[in-house]
Amino acid sequence: MRGLLPALALAAATALAAAAPPKIEDSMAQRLLACTGCHGKQGRATSDGYIPRLAGKPAGYLLNQLHHFRDGRRQLRLMTGLLDPLDDAYLAEIAAHFAALDIAYPPPQAAGADRASLARGEQLALRGDAGRRVPACSACHGAALTGTQPAVPGLLGLPRDYLNAQLGAWRGGNRRAHAPDCMASIARRLAPDDVAAVAHWLAAQPVPAGGRPAPHEPAAWPLACGGVPQRHVAAPEPAR
Ligand code: HEC
Ligand code: HEC
Repeated sequence: MRGLLPALALAAATALAAAAPPKIEDSMAQRLLACTGCHGKQGRATSDGYIPRLAGKPAGYLLNQLHHFRDGRRQLRLMTGLLDPLDDAYLAEIAAHFAALDIAYPPPQAAGADRASLARGEQLALRGDAGRRVPACSACHGAALTGTQPAVPGLLGLPRDYLNAQLGAWRGGNRRAHAPDCMASIARRLAPDDVAAVAHWLAAQPVPAGGRPAPHEPAAWPLACGGVPQRHVAAPEPAR
């Protein structure tokens, strides 16, 4: 068995065994206890705090992230240590496991920003800002902002601090995706106040019932994004 942190898993299994008959089940969920210790039961996280949810995200997106962490495009030493020894096939199994979970979302965070800032956040999310060459987030993240299969994540149901930090990391080069890195271009086109505005607005939106990623890609993508299958891109030249 290619167990994750066998000692941790064993300790958790022992704790479970105290309550239940002593049967150690070799299921994916049981092997991923090292992950769900941080990411919440079944990877459902919460809407506050910092840790992102995994449950129900597009499998291609999750797999890209596991590669990003393992290969140093995203940084979190504790996670990289767990992912380092795993081969691509196993990472794909992990991504498929979390993507298949269909779990209700918690209610959103209270909007902690003023009206003008929330209105700016909504504008960026749903309509973009042509003056800054920022496409609407919904052009790629789905009309309902619940993501697009197979590799664009939803933007609802994530903690505000996490959203802020991810956009900041892209601006500063501490988070990278496959080239061309459309999110790096977009994050750098936003004004510093825009990052907080869009993060506040997104974190305050409820996830629509179901909350599943849109099954089809948009008819035309505003920018080219690496690691995402894209048939028709309106402006294949992302960076400036
Ligand atoms: C020590 C706590 C911790 C552990 C253990 C951990 N994670 Fe994470 N994980 C995080 C944090 C914090 C982030 C956000 C990091 C950042 O700021 O980019 C994250 C991000 C992620 C992401 C990206 C999510 C997104 O929306 O982009 C994936 C996928 C992920 N973790 C999977 C896993 C898997 C699979 C495991 C088990 C092998 C695991 N994590 C173990 C804390 C943890
Ligand atoms: C051209 C398409 C496109 C547009 C427009 C776009 N995104 Fe993205 N976004 C992506 C892709 C692709 C990813 C996944 C990148 C990766 O693999 O790491 C992503 C990932 C993200 C993430 C990471 C989510 C997580 O769970 O870690 C955030 C946050 C984000 N986008 C915010 C935004 C915001 C805010 C806007 C609007 C201002 C926006 N995006 C517009 C394509 C886009």
